[in-house]
Amino acid sequence: MGTTLTEKILDDHLVEGELETGEEIGIDIDQVLTQDTTGTLVWLQFEALGLDEVQTELAAQYCDHQTYQFDFKNSDDHRFLRSAAGTYGAHFSRPGNGICHQVHKERFAAPGKTMLGSDSHTPTPGGMGELAIGSGGLDVAVAMGGGPYYIEMPEVVNVHLEGELPEWATAKDVILHLLGELSVKGGVGKVLEYTGPGVENLSVPERTTITNMGTELGATTSIFPTDDRTEEFLSRLGREDEHVEIGPDDDAEYDDRIEVDLSEIEPLIATPSMPDNVVPVDEVAGEDVDQVIIGSCTNGAYEDILPGAKMLEGREVNKTTEMIVAPGSKQASELLAREGWTAEMMAAGVNFSEATCGACIGIGHVPASDSVSLRTFNRNFEGRSGIEDDSVYLCSPEVATASALAGEIVDPRDLAEELGDLEDPGFEMADTYDGSDADLIAPDESVDDGLVKGPNISDVPLKDPLDAHLEGSALLKMGDNITTDHIIPATQDILMYRSNIPKLSEFTLSRVDDEFAQRALDADGGFLVAGENYGQGSSREHAALCPMYLGVEGVLAQSFARIHKANLFNFGLLPLEIDADAQENIAEGDDIEIVDDVEEAVRSGQEEFTIRVNDDWETTGLLDASEREREILADGGKLPHTKAQQSGSG
Ligand code: F3S
Repeated sequence: MGTTLTEKILDDHLVEGELETGEEIGIDIDQVLTQDTTGTLVWLQFEALGLDEVQTELAAQYCDHQTYQFDFKNSDDHRFLRSAAGTYGAHFSRPGNGICHQVHKERFAAPGKTMLGSDSHTPTPGGMGELAIGSGGLDVAVAMGGGPYYIEMPEVVNVHLEGELPEWATAKDVILHLLGELSVKGGVGKVLEYTGPGVENLSVPERTTITNMGTELGATTSIFPTDDRTEEFLSRLGREDEHVEIGPDDDAEYDDRIEVDLSEIEPLIATPSMPDNVVPVDEVAGEDVDQVIIGSCTNGAYEDILPGAKMLEGREVNKTTEMIVAPGSKQASELLAREGWTAEMMAAGVNFSEATCGACIGIGHVPASDSVSLRTFNRNFEGRSGIEDDSVYLCSPEVATASALAGEIVDPRDLAEELGDLEDPGFEMADTYDGSDADLIAPDESVDDGLVKGPNISDVPLKDPLDAHLEGSALLKMGDNITTDHIIPATQDILMYRSNIPKLSEFTLSRVDDEFAQRALDADGGFLVAGENYGQGSSREHAALCPMYLGVEGVLAQSFARIHKANLFNFGLLPLEIDADAQENIAEGDDIEIVDDVEEAVRSGQEEFTIRVNDDWETTGLLDASEREREILADGGKLPHTKAQQSGSG
């Protein structure tokens, strides 16, 4: 039996365990990536672990989420991150230089390498054959210190591509098609490995749009084999020596197979407010559009912006619609400017933003109330744009631009027919990327030596080891698909406290219940109750750390999103799976008691825990955890656990 590409890369990096689906494995990490909203904690944890130098082949610190230095807190964080990168030996990408996944793809990602990143869209460079996984920041800190990364061996699913995309259909439509078919839970516990004759019909930037949004499917990661097109992409970046041809064996055996005929893909759109609410554009055509934004880590590459520029040439954005372009990297901005496209788009009525995540997390360009915003981003969770009850649609740059021209949602094929002279701009690669590296500081260029902390940067709180007895009330009852944005909103006014956990905790779950934080603090212990897929969304470990700071002891949910569950272990919160009946019958305020000796049960490998509710009825909570995760949980989280191990007492 042949081997999949995923297995080959994992096998090359395996330090513990066997590649059996569901078994925990430990792998060596070659590269790490972190960004500004997660990075401050990464480095504070790196410091708390007493480590003094980055041990991975490469580490990169980006400043992309909160780039606007509108007060001292962001500026202090940026200065701290630069000082940490310089002190410990990481590359530093200055605010405005671009979104981590775009810049990393352009500068550092390489076929056959493993990468760990404290951002959920870390899998993006899977489109160029790198096995890249998103995780919590603490895992990144430990990996940077040379420790293995542990994960349950995922299922490897083959996505077999046939054919070629027809006119006006794009890579974005391919991944929207998969989201519509599989849902936001369809990839959980899986690596999606793309193969088939259709692969060669997609360029690397198109492949990375697909791997980027594998995250919305819940996938551990997504990966493409490498080929001539990968080599072509790397050589245009002047990195041809990093090309390696890798792929699965011809007779590789997969856990499952999905077939996609590219020639049947048509322009699609995700309607508010989930990336899997996918319909053909035609179905929502005619809806007025107030705002259109092209950009983000999904569609912010030069190749993503160019089609819109060509469509706008000699035309004007509709007077009722505002159109913004936020390039994914400064390199993309620079190239567009050098080639004259920036002026062309400006003349058509487009406003340019600096290369930043910005609008993707509600920082700038917040839509007006009761308005429709069309974005080329990857997420449209309710409220993420910065206003409650928003109406955000996700689509390709072509659909976005056509709609900006029409002032309403329109299938570009229909607009082309109506206008007569609008042609499919197609997909064109840059001849060469000769952008400057002025905003990238390599470790040997740094002048920093020692951490520089401002007053908004506080130490990381630590939890005590798990108690034998756990009880408290059901502090909050929630439904399905609670996202990390619900738990800690990523908006400007809140995320500015990302390095100040006591302050940030005041906003915990405020979008669900704005009295929650105070109630949790007053209760001094208790549980969260949720439905399916609790913690989906980002890798933001604040979503576990802040509830921990408020005294939450555990989460009782029907199921958990992978990265968030790992974060719950990392911060010492007990994640128990309960069935739908129990979830329905537990009410907010109910008394919850875990009947077992919790510490002993967790350490001994016990899977079923008895949950007693109101001293009246009982249900079972399932702890699905590896031996290592159990030790981490019992020690009060990964930081105390790792420190205990370092001192030889664990
Ligand atoms: Fe940034 Fe949005 Fe991507 S926050 S990393 S552009 S998902």
